[in-house]
Amino acid sequence: MSATVIVGAQWGDEGKGKITDYLAEKADMVVRYQGGNNAGHTVVVKGHEYKLHLIPSGIFYPEKVCVIGNGVVLDLEVLDHELDYLLDQGVKTFNLKVSDRAHLLLPYHRRLDEVDEERKGKNRIGTTRRGIGPAYADKAARVGLRVCDLADPPSFREKLAAALAEKNRILERVYGQPGFEADEIAREAERVYARIRPFVTDTSLVINQAIDAGQKVLFEGAQGTLLDIDLGTYPYVTSSHPIAGGACIGAGVGPTRIDRVVGVMKSYTTRVGDGPFPTELSDDTGEWIRRRGAEYGTTTGRPRRCGWLDLVIVRYAVRTSGIGLLAVTRLDTLGGLDKVKVCTAYRRGNGTVTEFPASLDELAECEPIYEEVDGWPEDLDRLTSFEQLPQSARRYLSLVEDKTRTKIGLVSVGRERTQTLALTTTF
Ligand code: GDP
Ligand code: IMO
Ligand code: MG
Repeated sequence: MSATVIVGAQWGDEGKGKITDYLAEKADMVVRYQGGNNAGHTVVVKGHEYKLHLIPSGIFYPEKVCVIGNGVVLDLEVLDHELDYLLDQGVKTFNLKVSDRAHLLLPYHRRLDEVDEERKGKNRIGTTRRGIGPAYADKAARVGLRVCDLADPPSFREKLAAALAEKNRILERVYGQPGFEADEIAREAERVYARIRPFVTDTSLVINQAIDAGQKVLFEGAQGTLLDIDLGTYPYVTSSHPIAGGACIGAGVGPTRIDRVVGVMKSYTTRVGDGPFPTELSDDTGEWIRRRGAEYGTTTGRPRRCGWLDLVIVRYAVRTSGIGLLAVTRLDTLGGLDKVKVCTAYRRGNGTVTEFPASLDELAECEPIYEEVDGWPEDLDRLTSFEQLPQSARRYLSLVEDKTRTKIGLVSVGRERTQTLALTTTF
């Protein structure tokens, strides 16, 4: 394993933080390549729960280099708090690197995200309201500010004033909201920049040099396949590329440098935010999964919508990211159910749909076709090897492998780093 991309195979919150932390033990470097603090990645080590939003999940090993790549939109205030939060808990952060090319997420992006969601009313996306969409929109419109701009404060202030003139006009005239003071934003950005300056570098160079030197690099995706702006359930998506290809752009590495893609798949499906969800359970079983799995958002605390595992989605993730191995999480959460259902295709009208559709209207007409398997006992969380898994749980995993034509390499049976069963010797 020299360069491995870790991607979410569903709608986010699959357990990427946990799997990244587990695999980081044998890696040298962990890189976030897209998204921002819309991500909430949970890592549990020796009973301690940590929630990360911007800093890669390799940070709990002091000797590993952790990189915030150029594809991330960086809210400096959030990074400042996250550094404080980690330092308070005794986690060392001196091995952090921050891309000089990452775009800044500034206070007006947050405000614009909020007012835009309010304006859309029932047509809202259900964003995390962290300013992600507006920050990426500015990047694409070529009016964004980058980390490297902060190296020259007078020039930074000039660029900020130009950007703000337009944003304030929109906030005041379209939304009837107060605008922002350039000086206040600049002072805060300069303060945090002074703190992170030692970490700021050309991270593409650092990552490529690590790969050249034979080091092991993990690329930690945020969000998930169906939240990808190109391949997800548009417009109910985020504004970046969570799929594996996003790692090349968002970290500045060529596709030829990537050796492997691991897809993180939850044993059922969840989604926060709005948009169609074929296997959603709006009944007692859905509520049972939400309660047993404590399915509430890491970033916003919103209840996650829950449903059965949808293998049409996972197959789509395998195809669009070139996933070679699956890491299955939360097998323990489904423990105790009599029967477990798995969607293997959809029915639409008189036809069968086996490939995830582009049109949301089509998706809304899709009814899941389920295969039912026997459930397994509640207490998988003490298991230490794959061989100890009950037969029924193994049959469930075989069904996933058969229907996705993809091997499972890891099975997670609890939140702790140690509650992870490795199936292949490659990890
Ligand atoms: P991420 O965004 O993909 O990193 O996932 P989140 O951290 O937002 O959500 C995953 C949640 O599931 C976290 O609370 C994890 O601690 C928890 N989790 C991960 N794997 C397992 C597992 O195998 N079993 C259980 N019970 N919880 C898990
Ligand atoms: P992790 O990395 C789950 C969802 C939001 C909303 C849509 C757009 O923890 O898996 P945005 O704020 O990005 O403009 O919101 O994307 N979303 C996530 N859902 N996990 C995440 O991250 C998410 N990040 C964004 O709920 O539906
Ligand atoms: Mg999350």
